[in-house]
Amino acid sequence: MPMTDTLDLLLTRRSTRILDFAEPGPTAQETDTLLTIAARVPDHGKLAPWRFILLEGEGRARAGAALAAVLKEMNPEADTRRIADEQARFTRAPLVVIVVSRAAPHVKIPEWEQVLSSAACAQNLLIAAAALGYGATWLTEWAAYEPKARAALGLAEDERITGFVYIGTALHKLEDRPRPPLEQIVTRF
Ligand SMILES: Cc1cc2nc3c(=O)[nH]c(=O)nc-3n(C[C@H](O)[C@H](O)[C@H](O)COP(=O)(O)O)c2cc1C
Repeated sequence: MPMTDTLDLLLTRRSTRILDFAEPGPTAQETDTLLTIAARVPDHGKLAPWRFILLEGEGRARAGAALAAVLKEMNPEADTRRIADEQARFTRAPLVVIVVSRAAPHVKIPEWEQVLSSAACAQNLLIAAAALGYGATWLTEWAAYEPKARAALGLAEDERITGFVYIGTALHKLEDRPRPPLEQIVTRF
């Protein structure tokens, strides 16, 4: 079997530890390439049941401030350290792409398939970022599951967060982690 660059990338890609991101992030042109690839996924019914919100530059701190405000409202006891952490959440990498699922009931296309398509967007981002030489990590954390946080980030009530994909220069490459042995996850009918 010939070992192409693509196979090598897919066989070795790992996420980057969230504390291991540094500048530089993708250029504007590279970001367009990343998003073009993110949108190039199987999509039953061509519904494009997803969209992307970019957090870069000052926008990361603005989004963090929006989250901090939600935290303060929900938890008035939150200490200054916790609030500062929230404000800095999206500055942990040069670029954060919020992959938003717009999956909704449809006469023909199951909502589940629309959700799956958005997961493919996030995975494509991870792969494309690696192909461009950047590290990337797919996180959800609390904001994805808190409706007030979603609203603060600009999502409509019926939209969900598939993931926050953090992208930037990786300071370290993680050792591989154990993968499930094929005999545990594969059967033949
Ligand atoms: C939908 C989704 C959400 C995730 N959310 C988190 C999270 O909030 N916090 C976390 O530490 N890891 C989270 N992870 C796991 C990280 O992406 C993890 O670092 C990754 O699975 C490592 O595997 P890899 O190196 O093979 O890419 C999430 C993974 C997925 C698929």
